[in-house]
Amino acid sequence: MTQSYSSYRNLPPLGGICSFEEAAKKGLTVKECVARLKRFHYAGKRLHGIFTAQITSEPIYELKSAFSLHAYLCAEIVTSLRDRISEMREPPLGLDKIPDPHLEIYFDEIRSAPTTEERLTALYQKAIPELSRAMARHLEDTNPLADYPSTRALKFARQDLLQMENFGREAVASLVAEDCRSRAEPWLDRLDEYLQAAGGLDGISPTENTLKERCHSRKPWRYDPRPRRDSRFPDPYNMAVNAEAFLYDDSFSAEPKTLMMFFKRLREIDVPEMMASIIVETPDRSWLYYRDMTRQLWDEARHAMMGEVGFAQLGVDWRHAMVNFTWSLALNTQLTPLERHAVLYFIEQGLMAKTGKRFEWEVAQASGNPLSALFQDYDWADEVLHARIGRDWYLSQMTDPQQAVAYGDRCWSKVLMDWERWQKDGLTEHRNWWPDLYREACRRRQVEPDEAVLNYRVSYREVRADLKTISASG
Ligand SMILES: [Fe+2]
Ligand SMILES: [Fe+2]
Repeated sequence: MTQSYSSYRNLPPLGGICSFEEAAKKGLTVKECVARLKRFHYAGKRLHGIFTAQITSEPIYELKSAFSLHAYLCAEIVTSLRDRISEMREPPLGLDKIPDPHLEIYFDEIRSAPTTEERLTALYQKAIPELSRAMARHLEDTNPLADYPSTRALKFARQDLLQMENFGREAVASLVAEDCRSRAEPWLDRLDEYLQAAGGLDGISPTENTLKERCHSRKPWRYDPRPRRDSRFPDPYNMAVNAEAFLYDDSFSAEPKTLMMFFKRLREIDVPEMMASIIVETPDRSWLYYRDMTRQLWDEARHAMMGEVGFAQLGVDWRHAMVNFTWSLALNTQLTPLERHAVLYFIEQGLMAKTGKRFEWEVAQASGNPLSALFQDYDWADEVLHARIGRDWYLSQMTDPQQAVAYGDRCWSKVLMDWERWQKDGLTEHRNWWPDLYREACRRRQVEPDEAVLNYRVSYREVRADLKTISASG
């Protein structure tokens, strides 16, 4: 670089991206760049799949929610990498190809981790930091001007990865005991060996590449569709309180309805449990299908968190409410993935009607609880997006809108909520928990409970026909 050249009045040159020296470096060729991006893309896709596959069967609520978020962040990273790769003279893109057999084993092993503790350690202390480091190397090696669009995508991706890593560090510190860590050590070392054999995650380190044997992934992996919950959900088969019937009963005031809506929001954790099963069990759709479905999955986990925050703000322990999993359990074990999607669509069509999300927002407004009003405002906005996702990916498979709704109705009607059987088998007593919860909320607010609200008793045995479409999470 000649010393004499400088920008006009010493303004930052090159849009402020970098200096002339940095912009003149050799960097990576398009071919080298794409080869690395494709490996990052593969890693992101596998991480998305691993997070999604654990949401249903992971019992710990905080992990279920974090996996929902991290699946979504991975889906966004994958989308940005696909967009960038497609700009780089690459058709056919070959994005479904596995870039290296050892990379495949690496992620198969993490997916097959035998315990939550081992999975957490492998995800958050191996794979995610490894991907972030490989992206950092790309940023160091590439020409920052010529390859600017890649650098921008990678910087955003690294921010998301850092967020996951930070969560993971604390999760591992809280859940993984020292003896568990040392027991897992040989397998964690083995993961490093697979990566070495793959030439590193970015494939730039020389390797002798002799195929290494599998460990946990020797047995074919199977998705577990049965939802599980931790000990704060002591009665997950309980169907004693029909939240919708209470909400749409004009004789009750808005204020106790807000408490019921916080319950309804928190109960929505069953939607990620169900949607994860659709995503995992529906192969070979276009990537945008998985991206959109994962966005909705994360929104539903976020709605559950809004309910959790609502309880925290009221000072009421949500364990007084029996947050059940009967909906996700029944759908996941009785319907095909398309039938599950049909039910979701049918319910969400109902939520867009007059009785749905607008009504919930109006109740929240009337209740004088600004937090509930805020949450319902966003919940409603999210629902409009979900209706669009339903139209794009479910309705498009049906002949017309009427048939799509009718099919969803039929699928929902054939789901057996085996109320009596669960009770006979001793899984639940269907205890009416509402009076205790309501009384506790009144005690916190230092107000007298309303007798009529206290005596509310409508179980899911009685579902009013006009509430059928909304008698579930959404
Ligand atoms: Fe929702
Ligand atoms: Fe929704």
